[in-house]
Order: sequence, then C-alpha cells, then structure tokens
Amino acid sequence: MTHNPLLLLLLDSSGRSSELVKALQKKDLALAVVRSEAEARRWLDENQCQAILLAVSSLQPHGSFLSDLQDVVSSVAVIVAASDPSVKDAVVALQAGVIDYLEAPVSDSRLDAALDKAGVSRRVSSPDPVPVKAGKGCSAIIGNSSAMRQVFSLIKKVCDAETTVLVRGESGTGKELIAQALHYEGVRGAGPFVPVNCGAIPGELLESELFGHEKGAFTHAIRTRLGRFELANGGTVFLDEISEMSPMLQVKLLRVLQEKEFERIGGTKTISSDFRVIAATNRDLEQEVQAGRFREDLYYRLNVIPIEAPPLRERLQDIPLLVEHFVARFNRLRKKKIKGVADEVMVRFAHYAWPGNVRELENMLERMVILAGSDVLSVADLPERLLEAGTVPVERFEELPVQGFFLNEVLADFEKRLILQALEQTDWVKNRAAKLLNVNRTTLIEKMKRFKLASSSAEA
Ligand SMILES: Nc1ncnc2c1ncn2[C@@H]1O[C@H](COP(=O)(O)OP(=O)(O)O)[C@@H](O)[C@H]1O
Ligand SMILES: [Mg+2]
Repeated sequence: MTHNPLLLLLLDSSGRSSELVKALQKKDLALAVVRSEAEARRWLDENQCQAILLAVSSLQPHGSFLSDLQDVVSSVAVIVAASDPSVKDAVVALQAGVIDYLEAPVSDSRLDAALDKAGVSRRVSSPDPVPVKAGKGCSAIIGNSSAMRQVFSLIKKVCDAETTVLVRGESGTGKELIAQALHYEGVRGAGPFVPVNCGAIPGELLESELFGHEKGAFTHAIRTRLGRFELANGGTVFLDEISEMSPMLQVKLLRVLQEKEFERIGGTKTISSDFRVIAATNRDLEQEVQAGRFREDLYYRLNVIPIEAPPLRERLQDIPLLVEHFVARFNRLRKKKIKGVADEVMVRFAHYAWPGNVRELENMLERMVILAGSDVLSVADLPERLLEAGTVPVERFEELPVQGFFLNEVLADFEKRLILQALEQTDWVKNRAAKLLNVNRTTLIEKMKRFKLASSSAEA
C-alpha cells in the first residue's frame, strides 16, 4: 500500500501552476496531483488527505465542486490559489468554508502560512533553495562531455511536456537516471515516479502489475490490487526494457496510451489515470519491429521524443568526474578515506572500452574502495581485464581523452583488427592475406603469432 498523501493538488488547465508545483516539491510533502474535478472526485472516493489545494484561474466554474467537497470531505481543509483573483471570488471562497484564499503567484511565506493553517506537516523550508527531490534531477547525472550536455538540454526542453519519451542506450548508461530527471525536473515532479521493469516480471504478472486486478479475478487474487498505471496518477510511469513486453500486452499498452483508460483485470469499471509514460530500451527497437517482435504502431507512439544515453566509451572525458563522484560516495558508504586514484589508473580507465558503461565503473570502484591497500587506488587494485591491451577501438577516439591514452596498445589493436579482416576476406589463406596487406608472408605469420590469431578451422 502507498501511504496517503497529505495534500491533494487540483491543477486546472490555466497552465500557470508549475511555479506552485515546484514550490510544493521543495517542501517534501506527501502530495497527489489531479488535473480535473472529475479526477479529484474519483481520487477522493478511494483515498484520504488532510488538505486540498485548488490551483485554479478563478473559483467561479468550481462552485458546485466546492460545495460538494463540504458534503463529502467536510473535515478536509480547502485552500485556493487563484491566478485570476477577484473580490467576488474571495467571497465565494469564504462562504464555501475555504480556509485560505491566495493570489497566484503565491509567495513562499504565504504558502507556508496556508499549509500551517491547514495542518499540513512538512519539512521546514530552508533559506537555501532545496535541490529537486533530493538530487534526483539532472544534478544526479554526472557528466560534462558534449554528449551529456546535449542530454541535459534535451531533458530541460521536454521535462514539462506531456509527450512520451523513449530513452535508448546500452545497459548501464544511466537510462533510469534520465527518466527520473525528466520526471522530477518537470511539472509532474511532485507526483509519483513509478518504475516497472518489463524484462524482470513474467508476462501474466506484468499485466496485473500494470493494470491491477479485482478481488477474485484469478485464483490468487484475494484482494483488489491497484495497478502501476493507477498508482502513477499525476506522475510518471517508467517502462524499462520495453522490448521485452509480450505481444498481447503491447496491444493493451497501446490502447492505454491512446485513451488513458483501462479496466483492472477481472473488472468492468473503467479507470482513468493521468500519467506520463517514459520508456527505455537497450535493444534496437527498429530491428525488433522489422523482426515482427515489436508492434510498429506502439513503436511510433513511444518514440515521440527519443533521448540517446551515450555509451561511456564515447565520452571518456566524463571519467574523472565520475571517479571523483563514486569515490566520494563509497567513502561515505563504506566509511573509508580514499583520496582518489593514481594517474596511471586514470589512464587505464581512459583506455578501456567499458562494455558495462557507468554501472561497470561504479561497481569496479566500489570493490576497489573496499579492498584498497592504501589511500590512493593504484594499478595493483585494478581487475585483470583493465590491464589487457587494446580494448578501445581506435575510431572511438574522436578527440584525445584528457587523461591521455596508450598509443602503442591502441595502434596494436588497430593493426590486429586489420589483419583479422584481411584473413577473413581471404579464407585464412596467408599468401593472399599478405598480398592484401602488402607485407611479407613471414611478417604476417609473425604478427599472427604475436596477436594470437588462428582460424578456428586451422586449430581444429
Ligand atoms: N551519468 C551518471 N552519473 C552518475 N551515476 C550514473 C550515471 N550513469 C549511470 N549511473 C549509475 O550507474 C548505474 C546504472 O544506471 P541506470 O540508470 O540503472 O542504467 P540503465 O538503466 O541504462 O541500465 C546506476 O547505479 C546509476 O546510478
Ligand atoms: Mg536500467
């Protein structure tokens, strides 16, 4: 069960409420956001709160809703923030028992006073601006490379939009962090962020996770369960590993995306929920579409705004910042006092291809911090694979990493791959391969020995 929000916020469509949402976010309130009277009514049917804040342009159109509130939830304090305030409005508010009538934009002290009056407890606001949801926005994503700066600027551009975003990138590149930043930096940031890993939950379970089920819908459904789409009302659903979703669920998802309405499994009542969808994939979805494993219509529906999470090997410049960040974090978590890494370690890092991306770097540093023999991490603390030669293909070095790199090893790797190509093109006939490369046959054989190159059929 999720705990009951203390404050229900009704945002009407006047579109000037993002300031207010941001101010409330900073107060660390339990907050639920709805965007229409109908939605508020439905929410109040099933949930409880201490206070309701109506952020509307004017109260006039909400008169009957206000008087209904007095009947339905008379114990709940109602605050109004009107962006188009009037004396007439203020009188309506007073008569309807509203405890505070604010004029938007609302100053922080006025907002605090109103919340106090309404008995809404919260974290005391500090004079410093509090970072978005304790560092879950862009500030949680470390990186200063041009690739990452592009990601940040895209996040800022689309965080307030309602459009679906598809975050693409290899595993460990920070797709979930990007999804969180989109949520917490945007107007929905005060609402829930609900992640679902479609690859980790078996098909039948995933359906009931997403849609919920009614009591008795199937053997183990002993009580009604709300689905993630319902729990994400006013917030964001993060569908991770979307390519793993079964064809049957893909159809259902498409319908939900189009209509924002669905039924719980075994239910007939239509449930509507206001959520934004952010999806992520580490697969090539176009290829999945081509292969008939992913619906084309769903692909277009999800891919409205694609954000690419760049692999770490394409932004090696970010490594020193990431290292500093993770060393500081693991010092804190593991009660260590590691000062940093030796220069040579940094050079090795810049030379490695990082198939597991930032996650691999993070895990490696955690282990190194724990096992370190001294207060500076040295080459001796590195795992084997970092000491092997030539792991970053040379064409990846569009610009020389600031930490430098191993010229000889990079060149050797380049050479090895060219020789391998020549051998493969000539069916491993050494004479022909040597001709292709314009080297002597003996030179080729020497190099093949050095690079441990042998065709699998030759070995057999
Ligand atoms: N740019 C980054 N800055 C800080 N930490 C990062 C960054 N990118 C990834 N991480 C960390 O790496 C791990 C993997 O990130 P995650 O978002 O789960 O990747 P993905 O979803 O792409 O597999 C997490 O622990 C995350 O905090
Ligand atoms: Mg992930």
